[in-house]
This record gives sequence, structure tokens and C-alpha cells, in this order.
Amino acid sequence: MSPQDTNSFNPSAVIVLAAGAGTRMKSRTPKILHPIGGVSMVGHALAAARGLNPDRLAVVVRFERDAVAKHIQALDPQALIVDQDEIPGTGRAVQAAMEVLDANAEVTGTVVVTYGDVPLLTTGLLTELVETHVQDGNAVTVLTAVLDDATGYGRILRHSSDGTVLGIREHKDATDAEREIGEINSGIYAFDAAVLRTALKNVTTSNNQGEMYLTDVLGLARNDGGRVAAVVTTDRWQVEGANDRVQLATLGAEHNRRIVEFWMRAGVSIIDPATTWIDSTVTLDEDVTILPGTQLHGKTTVARDAVVGPDSTLTDVQIAAGAEVTRTHGSGAIIGEGAHVGPFTYLRPGTVLGADGKIGAFYETKNVTIGRGSKLSHLGYAGDAEIGEDTNIGCGNITANFDGVNKHRTIIGSGVRTGSNTVFVAPVTVGDGAFTGAGAIVRKDVPAGALSLTVAPQRNAQGWTAANRPGSIPAQAAEKAAENAGN
Ligand code: UD1
Ligand code: CA
Repeated sequence: MSPQDTNSFNPSAVIVLAAGAGTRMKSRTPKILHPIGGVSMVGHALAAARGLNPDRLAVVVRFERDAVAKHIQALDPQALIVDQDEIPGTGRAVQAAMEVLDANAEVTGTVVVTYGDVPLLTTGLLTELVETHVQDGNAVTVLTAVLDDATGYGRILRHSSDGTVLGIREHKDATDAEREIGEINSGIYAFDAAVLRTALKNVTTSNNQGEMYLTDVLGLARNDGGRVAAVVTTDRWQVEGANDRVQLATLGAEHNRRIVEFWMRAGVSIIDPATTWIDSTVTLDEDVTILPGTQLHGKTTVARDAVVGPDSTLTDVQIAAGAEVTRTHGSGAIIGEGAHVGPFTYLRPGTVLGADGKIGAFYETKNVTIGRGSKLSHLGYAGDAEIGEDTNIGCGNITANFDGVNKHRTIIGSGVRTGSNTVFVAPVTVGDGAFTGAGAIVRKDVPAGALSLTVAPQRNAQGWTAANRPGSIPAQAAEKAAENAGN
């Protein structure tokens, strides 16, 4: 998951192929932009490729060219975008990339080719491929796997006696006997740049699909006396591509399983891995506990001893040490050390809760800074507000921040105590140590130390129930109360 140091093995270039149409996704979104673990498939491909520390990285695009190029440039501004022309095939895609890479000076050394739609591939496995390639002095090294069902894949042809790699046969071009072969071409390779450049000149489109096959390079390199070999991986997930949404979900689940396992091994308690979803961009400290049904997205971070869940969905939320976030839906929030949130709480962007503070049940917060030790325990809304330290906001309080046109701020000081159902009609300021009575509607600033009351006198109409609801259950109860009082 973290890029490994590749030392002297770093390749001259990595070429990521991403020109395909991905029609089986049946989507208006280009296939490689579909996410797994919060990162697009091509984002995973770029991260794995970057981890090799190549001198240059090129991505070949064609389908939905502008959307794809924009996405790639946002993720990896150093990446070279290469356009493939109308000649189809993986061979043509690599040729286009080599032409761009060779523009100033011919590339020498190792060129790695990967795909934009193989999201579980890691830098670790790519490093293994490049190391074998360099150490064995190969012209071409192909990454392969042995599958129970190899249908559709290119098959690895090996010498019948010594087992050396002879070449690759595409499924559509294969004989029945060749289709029995279980060893498949992943489409991921390390090439010697000069061998690749020369062989591509001799790749034609004379095959069943009328495409320039990159796979032809292996046979051509071998005929030229080059050493062609394979690295066989036992981890089939790392070479699997997603072509439709079923495969996307299957790969997504496996990706998540790996992430969850990574964090458990790093010291995080995850009670139910099956219902815990963690994006690859999330970071967790040792001794964090994640309870069932929790999804952590984006740049969410959770510090030591914090407990998150159950049933919480948090995106870009920073949780400090020892905090507890229970049954909460949140985004763009910062939760202080030892603070409590939930259950049933909605944290919206700009919520900052101080250390030891609390946002309790059925609270919604937005653009609010809450000082150390302050508590908003039950039922309310706090938006566009600033609350000092050790303030207690009573049950059902609301910042009326929106006048129908504009938003206004509420500023509440430290050591304040507000009565139940207080409404702060913003803009309004409440000074330190002030109190508000139950049901106060605070339209004017409250000075420090003052008690703010909105008082309508209470009137009790004696005997109202018997007179107006005769024979009802309330009337019977009232009658009984009168009898009891009479005794
Ligand atoms: C290819 C391999 C096959 C291998 C399989 C693994 C060839 C001829 N065949 O087959 O041996 O088992 O991958 O998945 O290489 N692409 C381009 N430009 C193109 C065509 C494809 O950039 O003109 C990209 C696609 O976006 C994709 C990758 O290359 O990322 C593979 O393309 P795809 O059409 O899926 O190749 P396969 O026919 O599956
Ligand atoms: Ca494919």
C-alpha cells in the first residue's frame, strides 16, 4: 500500500494503457474513472506505476479523451498524456507512447507497460517484475497468472520441453489445444526499450481482430535472439481488470478486504470487516476501534484510542485521540480530543468540535466552531456559529442563521448556559457567562453575565377540561384528580 523504495531498478518509463472504450460498463462515465475504494481505477494504476519511481510516466488515451486527460492531470500533473490514433490495438497504443517518449532522445533501459483498468495491482508486484527483468537480463518479461477459466485472455505459449516462453496467443486467434492453456497474459510487462521499439516496427494488424497486438512483441523479440521470460503471480486479483459493474464490485470488495486487513495488522480493531468500508486515502492510528457498519471515506483520519461506529459514514472527517463518534453521518468536520458525537448526528462541512466537547443526538451542525468542553447535547441545529468554552447549549436550541436571503452568524461566549428551546436569531451575540431562559427567542445581543428571557405570562383556565371535553379520558383523569385532592 505504501510505495516501496525501488533503488537501482527504477524504470526509464511506465506506459499506462487507457485508450479503450469500456462499453460493457454501460456508463456515461469513462470506465477507468469508476472508483474502487474512493479512488478511480486509473488513479490506482497511476499510484502503482508512480511507486516504481520511473523517469517518466505516459498514459495513452483516446475514448472520452478530454475527460480522461483532465482527470489524470489532476491526479498526476507530471504524467504525459499520449493520444492514440484510429489504428486499434495495444501495440499501436504503446507505439504512440514510445514516439512521444523518444521525441527528444531515445529511451533506453526498462519500459514497463500496465493497464488503467487493473486496480489491485501494487507497486510491490511491479517491482518484482522489474527486478526479475533486470537481474536476468531479459528482453521482455511478462507478468502471468494461472487461471481455472482463462477464457478471453491471451495464452502463454511455452516450449514443450524446457518451458521457456515462446510467445502469446490471443484467445480469438488460438487453436482448441491452445485454449486449454491456463497460463494467461496479464498485459503487464517489462521491456528493454530498444527491443520494444524495433519489434513494434514489425507488428502488423493481420490477425482475427485486425489490431496491432503488443503481444506479438514477445515472439518477435525471441526470434531476434532476445531472452523472453515470465513472472508468474499466485495473486490473481492483482492482474484482474474490471470490464463491467459486476467485476467492479467484486474487485471493490477484494480491495476493501485488503485495506481492512492492512489496518488490522497495523493495530486497528475492526469488529466486522465485512461491513466496514475504508477508502485507500483514509489513515488510522494504532488502537483505534471501528465498530460494524462503518464507512470511512476521503481524507478521513482517526487518531489513537478513538472509537468510530457503529453505523457511521464519515467523509473527510478528522477525529482526534480518544474521541467517540457513534451512528453519525458526517463530512468535512474536525472532532477534538476526547470529544463525543452521536448517536444520530449530522455533521456538515466546517464543523469544528473542541476537545472534550459534545454534539449529541439529533443535532445538525454546519460551519460552527465549538470550544473546549462545550456541549450541544440534544435536538437542535447550529450553523454559522461560534461557541466558546465550557458552554452548555440546552435541549432543542436553534441558530436561526438564514433570513431567507442571507446567512448570519451567531456568537456565543464561554461559560454560557442556554435554556431549552432557545432560538438565536442571527446576527446575534451572547456574552460570557450569560443565561437564557426556556423558550427564549434571542433577537438582541445578550451582555456577559445577563439572563435573557422571552416571557409571555402564563394563564391557567381552571376546570377547562371538564367544561370543554366532558366524558373524555382527560376529563375522567381530571375528575379523579379532584376526588383524590378532596380526600
Ligand atoms: C489484452 C491482451 C491479452 C491479455 C489481456 C489481459 C493484447 C493484444 N491482448 O487483451 O493477451 O490477456 O489484455 O487483460 O494486448 N488499449 C488501448 N488501446 C487500444 C486497445 C486497448 O489503450 O487500442 C488498452 C485498454 O484501454 C486496456 C488495455 O489496453 O486498458 C487492454 O485492452 P483490451 O481491449 O481489454 O485487451 P484484451 O483484448 O482484453
Ligand atoms: Ca480486457
